[in-house]
Amino acid sequence: MYICLEGIDGSGKSTQIEFLSQWLIDSGFKVKKVVEPTDSEVGLLIRKILRSPDATSPNTQKILGLLFAADRLTLMEKIAKYEEEGEIVISDRSFYSSLTYQDPENWILEINKFVKTPDLAILLDLDVDLAISRCLKTDEFEKKSFLLGVRERYIELANKNKDSFKIINGNNGPNKVKTDIKKAVAPLLGICLSGIE
Ligand code: TYD
Repeated sequence: MYICLEGIDGSGKSTQIEFLSQWLIDSGFKVKKVVEPTDSEVGLLIRKILRSPDATSPNTQKILGLLFAADRLTLMEKIAKYEEEGEIVISDRSFYSSLTYQDPENWILEINKFVKTPDLAILLDLDVDLAISRCLKTDEFEKKSFLLGVRERYIELANKNKDSFKIINGNNGPNKVKTDIKKAVAPLLGICLSGIE
């Protein structure tokens, strides 16, 4: 099982990934967490570019699209192995991030064609101003005008792929978000919904 959390910068993914993995472990599942970008050489290069002033320029976005796709491939064997070992893989981001942060869609799909599609994507959707207030503001992407577009593309993507996406209202406090995520994941793993809070 491969589950990813998606959302704009500052959406609270990291906190919720910790909650979700602890809850699954407490429920008796084996869990492995992965993060994109990774700590591979490619991932390190990506992080450097994300801090550069031209990170959102069309050419740099193409370079990032390619680098993210390459970085993601470094994760695929690991994810396949974890799944074979019966682990639930919880990923902070997936190729869906490239579809919303980079473009054009057809090209992103093409360069990510060897990448596994998550079984479930949880989209933490929230107001851009709230998200920005939580950001460290070290990356060029953490700007209102840019994130407004990303948020719109996430909602479009989730609505187009209703079977594999669950939209969670990230404007709510962390406890409500935590419960909503549990309710989204429970049916997939055969966990009884009654008593989830
Ligand atoms: P990070 O500081 O880890 O942000 P977050 O905690 O919000 O994930 O940096 C990841 C940044 O990279 C984030 O702005 C989203 C962006 N990104 C893309 O633009 N394309 C991608 O394919 C991925 C995986 C991330």
